[in-house]
Amino acid sequence: MRHSRSTSPAAAAAAAATVLVLAIAALSVFCEAGKTSAFVRKAEKTPDMPLDSDVFRVPPGYNAPQQVHITQGNHDGSAMIVSWVTEDEVGSSLVLYGTSENHLEFKAKGKAYTYRFYNYTSGYIHHCTIKHLKHDTKYYYAVGIGHTLRKFWFTTPPKAGPDVPYTFGIIGDLGQTSDSNMTLSHYELNPTKGQTVLYVGDLSYADDHPNHDNVRWDTWARFVERSAAYQPWIWTAGNHEIDFAPELGETRPFKPYNYRYHVPYKASGSTSPFWYSIKRGSAYIIVLASYSAYGKYTPQYQWLEAELPKVNRSETPWLIVLLHSPWYNSNDYHYMEGESMRAMFEAWFVKYKVDIVFAGHVHAYERSERVSNIAYTIANGLCSPVPDQSAPVYITIGDGGNIEGLATIMTEPQPAYSAYREASFGHAVLDVKNRTHAYYAWHRNQDGCAVEADSMWFFNRFWHPAPDSSASVR
Ligand SMILES: *[C@@H]1O[C@H](CO)[C@@H](O)[C@H](O)[C@H]1NC(C)=O
Ligand SMILES: *[C@@H]1O[C@H](CO)[C@@H](O)[C@H](O)[C@H]1NC(C)=O
Ligand SMILES: *[C@@H]1O[C@H](CO)[C@@H](O)[C@H](O)[C@H]1NC(C)=O
Ligand SMILES: *[C@@H]1O[C@H](CO)[C@@H](O)[C@H](O)[C@H]1NC(C)=O
Ligand SMILES: [Fe+2]
Repeated sequence: MRHSRSTSPAAAAAAAATVLVLAIAALSVFCEAGKTSAFVRKAEKTPDMPLDSDVFRVPPGYNAPQQVHITQGNHDGSAMIVSWVTEDEVGSSLVLYGTSENHLEFKAKGKAYTYRFYNYTSGYIHHCTIKHLKHDTKYYYAVGIGHTLRKFWFTTPPKAGPDVPYTFGIIGDLGQTSDSNMTLSHYELNPTKGQTVLYVGDLSYADDHPNHDNVRWDTWARFVERSAAYQPWIWTAGNHEIDFAPELGETRPFKPYNYRYHVPYKASGSTSPFWYSIKRGSAYIIVLASYSAYGKYTPQYQWLEAELPKVNRSETPWLIVLLHSPWYNSNDYHYMEGESMRAMFEAWFVKYKVDIVFAGHVHAYERSERVSNIAYTIANGLCSPVPDQSAPVYITIGDGGNIEGLATIMTEPQPAYSAYREASFGHAVLDVKNRTHAYYAWHRNQDGCAVEADSMWFFNRFWHPAPDSSASVR
């Protein structure tokens, strides 16, 4: 059932007739037409949570560590980068850690950095990589000194292997409104417990405030600490990380993001923190940069060209790509923005049988069929997406709930490649079971935490390339 908003009954009837004709045309290619959810929620923007909100509370005590967050620290998951901020003085960059809560027997020393942005001066941003961790082990760790020591814990992933079960949360474009808080709460309360967050870019939306008020970078990190200090968030850079503001004298792109969020890019032979890869459980995750050059001969292009053949599907069957600007997006918002990157890389994704591509940017949810659009040459003019069982499913999940509100206007009719779309805030969980099966579900914030608004069983493209998207099975 297709759904159109705010049109007159006559126009709606005419549109419905057109849609019907196109839907029948689409049916000759796709067995089942896609779905535009009729779910309607308020479309107004929500402001950022006030600075004195509970979620932004500064931990008590002089120079207490705040904004604690962790991310994978090397390629195989046996290292972790621990990051935090001290506001009053530099303090200690040590992380104490161990497998017994009351005996943190190991220590590692990190480094602290500060930066200025216009008239803002950051606190001391500490980054410390702790290495040689045992797989599949719970570690306790502490940062700070004396009476402001703060303790947290995390569990390392099992050693990479083809049938290692592992659960990923997927969140994008979160921001720091009460909708953002609801998304994070729903993720935390999801009965399928995510073990790592795949974050598809656009973090704080500080740049939506006057002078890109970098205080909002600090509040955002305090807000997500309740999750990001206990499980790694895998970072992707979005356009709201660019912070390019020549009018403020700030001309170095990604400056606040680079100081605050370190990633293990060197471990995958990357020369830039914006594109890199990690192995985690049975997944190989490639992070790409929508806002760094990707044309032929560029560093990102060369890296990806060399990277894809390295993926060993016998070790990590699930090949997942994260990027910010979606390639297949039938929302009016940011329509076609991902097109030039698609033109560069899509043929590789089909050749190497990428399982899933997660993107953000568009503040709505959309899941594609398995399609590709790689036949085109200027001479043949073949430029329509076609069903392709070697192609990834494209999921846009920029619906974390930020200050800019929902993107409610869809391009009509719904293209045949689009399996499901809806403008609601939410998050998803990908529950990898073994080398052949992974269960995926998207949850909208208005529902109870266990309710799945959209779901599918993914069949691995390397081990079990049977049709799985909704066009062909159900
Ligand atoms: C930065 O400048 C703005 C005005 O341009 C002012 O409102 C704000 O208080 C200043 N912040 C600091 C930290 O000086
Ligand atoms: C954010 O969500 C948490 C957990 O549901 C709740 O305790 C807190 O009061 C919320 N804060 C705001 C400002 O919405
Ligand atoms: C791929 O991984 C499997 C399982 O870990 C291993 O036995 C095999 O040697 C690897 N292949 C290559 C080319 O490294
Ligand atoms: C993989 O997981 C699926 C779903 O849980 C299950 O049906 C299938 O039997 C599993 N395959 C193997 C080889 O265990
Ligand atoms: Fe974006």
